[in-house]
Amino acid sequence: MWGGRFAAQPADAMQAINASIDVDKRLWREDIEGSKAHADMLAAQAIITSEDNAAIQAGLDQIAAEIAEGTFPFSADLEDIHLNIEARLTERIGEAGKRLHTGRSRNDQVATDFKLWTMRASREAADGLRVLQQTLVKRAEGGAEWIMPGFTHLQTAQPITLGHHLLAYVSMFERDRVRLIGGALEAAWECPLGSAALAGTGYPIDREMTAKALGFHAPAANSLDAVGSRDFALAALSNLAIAATHLSRLAEEIVLWTSPQFAFASLSDAWSTGSSIMPQKRNPDAAELIRAKAARIGADFAALNAIVQKLPLAYAKDLQEDKALTFSAFDAFSLSVTAMIGMIETMRFNREAMRAAAARGYSTATDLADWLVRELKTPFREAHEITGKIVRRAEEMGVAELGLLPLGEYQAVDARITEAARALLTVEKSVESRDSYGGTAPQRVREQIERWKEMFA
Ligand code: ARG
Repeated sequence: MWGGRFAAQPADAMQAINASIDVDKRLWREDIEGSKAHADMLAAQAIITSEDNAAIQAGLDQIAAEIAEGTFPFSADLEDIHLNIEARLTERIGEAGKRLHTGRSRNDQVATDFKLWTMRASREAADGLRVLQQTLVKRAEGGAEWIMPGFTHLQTAQPITLGHHLLAYVSMFERDRVRLIGGALEAAWECPLGSAALAGTGYPIDREMTAKALGFHAPAANSLDAVGSRDFALAALSNLAIAATHLSRLAEEIVLWTSPQFAFASLSDAWSTGSSIMPQKRNPDAAELIRAKAARIGADFAALNAIVQKLPLAYAKDLQEDKALTFSAFDAFSLSVTAMIGMIETMRFNREAMRAAAARGYSTATDLADWLVRELKTPFREAHEITGKIVRRAEEMGVAELGLLPLGEYQAVDARITEAARALLTVEKSVESRDSYGGTAPQRVREQIERWKEMFA
């Protein structure tokens, strides 16, 4: 491509370090789309003839077909997807192909292609999260009043409902979706095309026209910024990293819940793996890999951030590494979401085991303290202390649940405590009582399920 300037061929390793075609061939659709918009604009501005444009359009369509059917002759000599397509175009249509690169550079070309790709991938990631949310809501509906222990510090805290726990992730994924398709997309919606190498061009191009044709809001207002910036990809990767962190926390819970020690749930055969040596094993490999992939996605963000932060304006070849990181993050994310949907859809929850665990660990102690406050007007701090003594008593006596402790033991600590108070200390009564907005009471959970379903409709 720059044979005019050099007498000798590049070293093999020079070519190897420089070629990106194996990675950026994935941008072929965006590259053809961008070139078609650019050629149409060149013709509309009489920079090329309409005959040349017609040949370019037809040639690019044929190339798209070749790539789609797998017959396109990709060549590492031609570095990247942009040069591969342009060279092939000239091979097919001759001189008109050589006019396509008028008034643009690979710098604005790649920024445009990659931005289009990233915006689309962000939308698709958000769509995947929507399906996961729907799956979670469905399971929450089945478990709206199933009781499980709620934890803080992974210590039994208060009984909650399974529905409530699953809906917590629906809320997280909703914010992830908003980040993926909201502000980040809006900020990226300026078109780099026409910024040329870095300084703009002297050809009378119409940047409004290409921006519009490609679905952007406006042409980028500064050519150096447009070719040198990758914050659209950084934003997408950080959004993805946060969403992957949420996936990873859910994956972590699946690992805990399906362990024989918890036994809150079991994975279906389709989403379990065995052990080559221990026949009893049913391992949650997919959940574990989701955790690990979340770490990698965060690292992809960190790597691109580190690449960009030391670059003077405008373009430098360091930026070519943006695509491998971004593609790998989006691939890992989409696979993680698919696996998570599969696991959640087919998981069996063990209602009895969850309920039994919820009752252990004196999980209804707060309910007793609340009764003392409500019925006897005891100051909360005092109620906390009285309840603490009762818990200690139960522990000393080896009684595992507050509801099983004889009334006499309560009254030995505080004579005012009645059978009515003791009767409140079941896990069912406990979750029913937590009916503040956003609370775990089955009634509240069902309202939230309805709210989500309306939102999805
Ligand atoms: N393959 C390059 C990339 O992805 C395209 C831009 C090349 N520009 C340049 N000035 N060498 O970054």
